Amino acid sequence: SSKVRICQVLSSQEFGKNVQIQGWVRSVRSQKEILFLHVNDGSTLQSLQVVANAELYKRCLTFGSAVKISGTLEKSPHKKQLVELQADSIQVIGDCNPVDYPFKIKERHSLEYIRQFPHLRCRTKTFGSLLRIRSEASTAIQSFFKDNGFVQIHTPVITSNDCEGAGELFQIEPAGREQGPSEDEPHFFSVPAFLTVSGQLHLEVMTGAFPCVYTFGPTFRAENSQSRRHLAEFYMVEAEIAFTHSLEDITTVMEDLFKTATECILSRCSEDVELYHKYVAPGHMDRLNHMLKNKFKVISYTEAVDVLKHSQQNFAFRPEWGCDLQTEHEKYLVQHCGNIPLFVINYPYNLKPFYARNNEDKPQHTAAAVDLLVPGIGELCGGSLREERLELLKSRLEKTGLKDTYQWYLELRQFGSVPHGGFGMGFERYLQCILGVDNIKDVIPFPRFSHSCVL
Ligand code: 4AD
Ligand code: MG
Repeated sequence: SSKVRICQVLSSQEFGKNVQIQGWVRSVRSQKEILFLHVNDGSTLQSLQVVANAELYKRCLTFGSAVKISGTLEKSPHKKQLVELQADSIQVIGDCNPVDYPFKIKERHSLEYIRQFPHLRCRTKTFGSLLRIRSEASTAIQSFFKDNGFVQIHTPVITSNDCEGAGELFQIEPAGREQGPSEDEPHFFSVPAFLTVSGQLHLEVMTGAFPCVYTFGPTFRAENSQSRRHLAEFYMVEAEIAFTHSLEDITTVMEDLFKTATECILSRCSEDVELYHKYVAPGHMDRLNHMLKNKFKVISYTEAVDVLKHSQQNFAFRPEWGCDLQTEHEKYLVQHCGNIPLFVINYPYNLKPFYARNNEDKPQHTAAAVDLLVPGIGELCGGSLREERLELLKSRLEKTGLKDTYQWYLELRQFGSVPHGGFGMGFERYLQCILGVDNIKDVIPFPRFSHSCVL
């Protein structure tokens, strides 16, 4: 008999064929001499019904155990499924004690509950769906860039720069050197090195030779926050586009990426997504459709602050021109704009890192920077045009004492430099947004955040 995946079996019409499946028992029910099993192998949300001799197998087959089953495919008498497997032989590969097993048969455990078991939660239906969606989302994003002529660049995880200048760096040294550098023992790389907070500067290097590039990899921030949208390790999709003077070129790619990737995931993982939209975030499909079918809105930072000031909301932080928008402000703004994703453009110049392009406007000095805000979450993407004018860049770096560090960055503006810009999208926040998941820890296989690095 041939080994097959359950997703293939479920859509097959080859009744009478002998097959072998491997998977985990999702449910067991006996009816007189007959045992009905549901077996899942991770290839799809659905389980395959297996019919077996109760006397032979009743005792050894428990919820959660791993099995190998050979049998014959037969037409199922049930309306809801096409096929079932009449078992000839069942082998228990790994048994599972249902008393100790944290998941209980037929129970829908909450995301909070299953989060306590990072080593076991992939076995639940909900997290199984998440992992298939996450995998497909990753492919959809890569396909989007490929289809649009972007070249993927593998930017380094280890770097000597703090791109965002926010000081949220994890410094790295070989184990045993935690005491820090001494005179006779310099840094491993001779200079302080960090886990990357963004691949942007490396992508900017590439815009010296390619019109469109992107990177997609893990990013690290030593954020102390215990919020539902921050992790210490998260995945970021970053794109950089050369030969552009317009923020609109950047926001167009953001919107296209969001819509194209989402449509692709919805069509390729419909059952898995449906589970989220049914049990985890009821009604979320309507909210998502609303985002997909409307053109994203645009508001300037200055207008946004005005809206906030006139909102009569009791914000914990009072909105003020020149201050960063807080999550509560971002969520309110999206709501105010009809729960359609919203681009906030032209942030105060002083709020943005050294690379942001100076708009040279008065009296309110802004930079050509943009954030994409989405319902329920707030910031999903951050981007900007980059300062390509050597003199302006030089003087800003001088003012911040970074000129020596970024000598190479200044040089980029001297050898065939082109105006360019780009953005980064948090992959986990994207998953939260399309699935309606409240806590970012529930959309990544192994979450890392302050005081938590299990496994
Ligand atoms: O807004 P950020 O900090 O932008 C940058 O890093 C730019 N250098 C990107 C670029 O232009 N190439 O981060 C981009 C996005 C945020 O909008 C957010 O979605 C996500 O990354 N993000 C986080 N996601 C989870 N946990 C964290 N601690 C995050 N910090 C940022
Ligand atoms: Mg940001």
